[in-house]
Amino acid sequence: MGKKNLRISLLGAGTVGSGVWSLLQENADLLYAQTGCRFEVRHVLVRSLDKPRKAPIPTELLTTDAQRAVLDPEVDVVIELLGGLEPARTLIEQALQAGKHVITANKMVMALAGDRLITLASAQKVRLLYEASVAGSLPILTSLQGALAGNRITRVVGIVNSTTNFILRTMEEGLEQGTPAEDSYRIALQKAQELGYAEADPTSDVEGYDAQYKMAILARLAFLQYVPVEAVYREGITHLSGRDMVWAKRLGYGIKLLGTAERLPDGRLNVRVHPTLIPLENPLCVIRGAFSGVWLQGNGFQDMLMHGMAAGARPTASAVVGDLIEVARHPKPLPIPDPSLQPGETAPIESLTFRYFVRAQGTEPALESVRRALGEWGILRLEEDPEAGEFVAFTAPLQEGYFQEQMAKLRAQSGGAIQVIRVLE
Ligand SMILES: NC(=O)c1ccc[n+]([C@@H]2O[C@H](COP(=O)([O-])OP(=O)(O)OC[C@H]3O[C@@H](n4cnc5c(N)ncnc54)[C@H](OP(=O)(O)O)[C@@H]3O)[C@@H](O)[C@H]2O)c1
Repeated sequence: MGKKNLRISLLGAGTVGSGVWSLLQENADLLYAQTGCRFEVRHVLVRSLDKPRKAPIPTELLTTDAQRAVLDPEVDVVIELLGGLEPARTLIEQALQAGKHVITANKMVMALAGDRLITLASAQKVRLLYEASVAGSLPILTSLQGALAGNRITRVVGIVNSTTNFILRTMEEGLEQGTPAEDSYRIALQKAQELGYAEADPTSDVEGYDAQYKMAILARLAFLQYVPVEAVYREGITHLSGRDMVWAKRLGYGIKLLGTAERLPDGRLNVRVHPTLIPLENPLCVIRGAFSGVWLQGNGFQDMLMHGMAAGARPTASAVVGDLIEVARHPKPLPIPDPSLQPGETAPIESLTFRYFVRAQGTEPALESVRRALGEWGILRLEEDPEAGEFVAFTAPLQEGYFQEQMAKLRAQSGGAIQVIRVLE
């Protein structure tokens, strides 16, 4: 783009928008040295003009007029940091139609409408970049499309939701300090909300929707196959109990909400999000609190773990500003169709095989019926706690569809509480 100004409309001045504003001011000279461009914010779209801001944004830049911010002919780049599906999706579409580059941190929009927006950006010959939508500051999407693009990726396993990672870690700490197991989830969630890690309505994080969106995006770019959100299996953390964590730790495991995407031997892609037992010595297990980690396997680099700050104003702003640098350096998209939109088959989780951690609690006859059934399918390890009326077991590898069906029958017949968590292989 040469030595000129790149004029920006910032949609949103909340956590991330304020972080982007601050980083653009603080690092202006560095950004000029890196690109030969000055970055000039022309509009900042907000809902309320009077709200106190975390960054000293001049009030004359603030506007509530979305059309002005998006369609101003003097603007080159629209940075969408509003969150939620609408009006974000429509504003991104309008900006692309008006020939502007778009940068967004919005995983919901990119997971649900990414195919259409990417096609539109390509037709308009402008850039659409969304590094901040997955794993905060980690340059995972850029790496998959750049430095790692010469590899065939075989597996991606990630802790991509830092809110649940914080809650699970807080549960572990609480249990170590004597919090009763039955209270540990509620107390950890409350702490996450007090510290601003979880929203007042935490559904999107704790039920796994946020991770599901991120895995749809991550899998698409890793495996160059379009992944509709509905094809990503989703299970959150709300059914986990402190007892699961106590047992997991005793047996040498931690519990994480993992997102996994892998190419199966039959060529189909499986993408899923669910709580997973991970051996304590696995590097993913030490990714704690508000951090994210993505473990990649590919046929060239073999194994790689990216680990860093997942969320928050400055780490997320770092990814947004990185996208801005990319737009300044390479304003023209490649003249080829986006390879990540290719169609392909996905495999349902029911067709996969897992080892399971099973925790059963109930009367002795109920426990005995579960023990007997598990014994028939193959138990690798069994530990009893007769005082608590409880036992845990690791199963042999079993097919998900069959196993879950049998477990449902067993729950209904025995009347016992049976918890099932998949184990990382
Ligand atoms: N927070 C993180 O750590 C993080 C990390 C990675 C990605 N992200 C993504 O980044 C995006 C922004 O997140 P955030 O945490 O910065 O959100 P936020 O703090 O809630 O800020 C949202 C901003 O957008 C403005 N806004 C929302 N709806 C609007 C509307 N209809 N019209 C005009 N302005 C509107 C708000 O205006 P007011 O200030 O006037 O209310 C606010 O300034 C989301 O897509 C999120 O998923 C966030």
